[in-house]
Amino acid sequence: DAAETEYTQGYDFVVVANRLAVNRITQEDGTEDWQRSPGGLVTALAPIMAASEGAWVGWHGAPDETLEPFDHEGMHLHPVPLSEQEVEFYYEGFSNGTLWPLYHDVIARPLFHRRWWDAYRRVNQRFAEAAAQVAARGATVWVQDYQLQLVPQMLRDLRPDVKIGFFNHIPFPPPGLFAQLPWRHSVLRGLLGADLIGFQRDSDARNFQRAVRHRLGHYIKADQIYVPLQEEDDAGSQIPGFSADPSRGTAPRQLSAPAPGSHRVAEARAFPISIDTDTIVDLAGREDIIARSKEIREELGNPETVFLGVDRLDYTKGIRHRMKAYEELLHDGDLEVGQACLVQIASPSREGVESYQRLRDEIELTVGRINGEFDTMGHTAIRYLHHSYPIEEMVALYLAADVMLVTALRDGMNLVAKEYVAARKDATGVLVLSEFTGAADQLRQALLINPHDIDELKAAMVKAAQIDPDDAKKRMRSLRRQVVSHNVKRWAQDFLDRLHHL
Ligand code: G6P
Repeated sequence: DAAETEYTQGYDFVVVANRLAVNRITQEDGTEDWQRSPGGLVTALAPIMAASEGAWVGWHGAPDETLEPFDHEGMHLHPVPLSEQEVEFYYEGFSNGTLWPLYHDVIARPLFHRRWWDAYRRVNQRFAEAAAQVAARGATVWVQDYQLQLVPQMLRDLRPDVKIGFFNHIPFPPPGLFAQLPWRHSVLRGLLGADLIGFQRDSDARNFQRAVRHRLGHYIKADQIYVPLQEEDDAGSQIPGFSADPSRGTAPRQLSAPAPGSHRVAEARAFPISIDTDTIVDLAGREDIIARSKEIREELGNPETVFLGVDRLDYTKGIRHRMKAYEELLHDGDLEVGQACLVQIASPSREGVESYQRLRDEIELTVGRINGEFDTMGHTAIRYLHHSYPIEEMVALYLAADVMLVTALRDGMNLVAKEYVAARKDATGVLVLSEFTGAADQLRQALLINPHDIDELKAAMVKAAQIDPDDAKKRMRSLRRQVVSHNVKRWAQDFLDRLHHL
């Protein structure tokens, strides 16, 4: 059988993600090369890839360019091309103009455009076909994140022989917000094509289960969702704009387990992601990086308290709330420039999306205003840097910072919080952490705050700056125990063990 021969030549472990695991770099002599991406996900999965026959399916980041599959450092890379219009409609549009704000508590207004949805479906189909092409018979395929929610079912239709996992790196919204999505049924059915659907927090998994129960009526018991084998898709509705669902988008709830043979089971539960702790701990012990951290403090004029914020420049991160609190503290005289300094790293992100362009303008206006009012000749109030930095410089910054400010209004996990903790080997330093991050479920000894409560945030910043060193040490030790014992390798192993067990 030709198809069978083909599958036995494929890869046993396939990761499918919007972004490929490598970035293109230009070397000094002008030639181009690929470099493994520095993120935690790639770091965690690379060894698993190298140990088995592993392949990574993803977009390489440039429009209108078709690349042949290639191998790099023990990984088979399978680039998926996107046209310029698909970058606009699928990536900037549906992924980051519709789903991202909808899944982050509608902090920004989600936009619903049918042509964006059409592109999302088309591109998801392309990723599913690429995965189907590279997966060996009986392979494990792990699909990542909100850009690819339709891939699990599309892949199952093409390749019923493979095991399919899905992990959602961002929050899953409460059913009342998810209900806004005109294509909500299709998204749920897409995800339910997976055998295991992972979320960051228990509450995300519960939100998903409630949406499934409410919209599709499926029977659910102990995280197991009973998915009927014969189902229509609302995308197949014959009358445009008319839901295939007779009960206006909700379904009667199934109260007992369906008959055997009439369904398959999909499991939905939390697997909180983490970081490559060992790498951060090693870097934090390196002499050149410790020296660099001292140099950073000197360059800032040796303030007593260095506050640090590190974020992609994204409206979910609460950067404005943080600056508002800081500005008021300077204004009230609770903090003073020279004695305190805020370093804000804002790495460029999604610059083609309008809400991100607007945010950048607002933040840069605010920084200019605060610095204009409070700077002295020798010292600045906010050292604002719109750059990304290599991990070595990030660890030096973590070591230079007395107080880490994570004030996200909603965040799937927030790995910066975990990186800061991992870097503080001597158990000094204070983490101020928003309760709206996934990380807050695990990092209970941080100074937990509601970033919308500016007074509470101000109080936490003052407390962090003046904290009793013993109290700080106790907290940081407990945080470090959590982070050191739960690295991203363990996360990947837990997920894959569960998937293989199903
Ligand atoms: C978040 C998402 C990832 C995404 C990353 C960077 O962490 O969960 O899927 O890759 O942001 O965003 P970008 O749009 O540049 O890929």
